[in-house]
Amino acid sequence: MNILFVGDIFGNPGRQAIKKLLPELRRKREVDFVIANCENSAGGKGVTEKIAEELFASGCDLLTGGNHIFAQRDSYDFIDAETRLVRPVNFPPGAPGRGYVVHRSAAGPLIGVVNACGRTFMAQHYDDPFRAIDGCVQKIREKTPLIIVDFHAETTSEKVAMGWYLDGRVTAVLGTHTHIPTADERILHHGTAYMTDVGMTGPYDSVIGDDKDVILDAIMTQRPRRFEVAAPNEVFLCGALITASMETGVAERIERIRVPL
Ligand SMILES: [Fe+2]
Ligand SMILES: [Fe+2]
Repeated sequence: MNILFVGDIFGNPGRQAIKKLLPELRRKREVDFVIANCENSAGGKGVTEKIAEELFASGCDLLTGGNHIFAQRDSYDFIDAETRLVRPVNFPPGAPGRGYVVHRSAAGPLIGVVNACGRTFMAQHYDDPFRAIDGCVQKIREKTPLIIVDFHAETTSEKVAMGWYLDGRVTAVLGTHTHIPTADERILHHGTAYMTDVGMTGPYDSVIGDDKDVILDAIMTQRPRRFEVAAPNEVFLCGALITASMETGVAERIERIRVPL
């Protein structure tokens, strides 16, 4: 089956890319299931119920999060109730929502999705993502071998290490958070598809989604600025398309996706 994983949807430009590009991409590439990272979909930080509904309506089957997932304070009840959304599993116990789900795809089989944050250079002090994901994978594998992991981390090394750690136990380990696609998509030795970062779905005429002049001013003056979503220039939908065996969950193919709006 074909599973499309879409990288961090950034603000309104990213949402427009989903609305205008995803339905056709689904059709053209015979995609059976779409997972999209929504942590930046509301003005660059967090997600709201209304935005999530829009993303579902445009063809996203399941949404993942990251370090910004709780940025919109009025979204907590929705995140807690929405079973098609996963937030990082290694937030402290008691966080709203869930860190993994098992979802029935339209193509038939069950798909497990896990989301976790890395620790290196992250502002928050998350629990160990390796042991946290390990626990989820064991539970999901009792139901299905099709498992997609969204590993939301800053450093390439921590992400590569996670790929090797999970190789042969999950269908794909896909990196998010840095918003820049990497060119290292591959199938690891035991059948896990891997890519360090699938890139952002949003405006690339920016500094990782935000207005570049504002960011440069903040860097040059070392004074705080309120970041703004960049203008909708050079908008791309970025992600990875994985072909996997429904029976074994083994990945047969991974392709980097980058579609201009
Ligand atoms: Fe992000
Ligand atoms: Fe992030």
